[in-house]
Amino acid sequence: MKFYLDTANLASIKKYNAMGLVDGITTNPSLIVKEGADFEETIKAIAKEVYPHPVSAEVIATDYDGMIREGLTLAAIAENVTVKVPLTWDGIRACRTLSQQGHKVNVTLCFDSNQALLAAKAGATFISPFIGRLDDIGYDGMEVLEDIRTVYDNYPSLKTEILAASMRTPLHVKRASMIGADVATMPAALIKSLTRHPLTDAGLASFLADWKKTGQTIA
Ligand code: G3P
Repeated sequence: MKFYLDTANLASIKKYNAMGLVDGITTNPSLIVKEGADFEETIKAIAKEVYPHPVSAEVIATDYDGMIREGLTLAAIAENVTVKVPLTWDGIRACRTLSQQGHKVNVTLCFDSNQALLAAKAGATFISPFIGRLDDIGYDGMEVLEDIRTVYDNYPSLKTEILAASMRTPLHVKRASMIGADVATMPAALIKSLTRHPLTDAGLASFLADWKKTGQTIA
């Protein structure tokens, strides 16, 4: 499973990229606003930092013509920019046009496997089901992820990658990787938290306590 960082924070991207943990970046309007910098400049800097890995940048327009106009502007920022469009009727139309023109498209705000099927038929490069936001309202985000995996596997001609988004917990990561999501996009803190296990901490403390008794050091 590929790891994408779900952030527009360049410092954090640089840090995780240096560790070889970044296979791509996803952003959305809320993440861009959080950084308080110019949108296009931010995407340009991120795309350069992680090249040739993909960087999703989302359109703001909600109508087809506006999405195409903005999508082309975003795609022109760098070769590795993926245009992100919402899963609406106009978004699906824009996905088809942009992908037919050779651009990569991430269809976002997906909450159901029928939506994912539609996006794949429109040529989406990525479909982004939002796991955490489904859990938030009492649905099972992982069940939707499983449904999408099943539907896509039933029709091998569909080439869309499943990009599990709105990932909040290590359990989300574990289950997404077991279901076979192609990509999981996560905040940096979630990636870091994957190292943690109480038995790792306890085991290390016990090894170090025993070692201290020897009075030895390793040069
Ligand atoms: O990739 C989509 C993601 O940014 C949404 O996450 O936690 O705001 O639901 P969240």
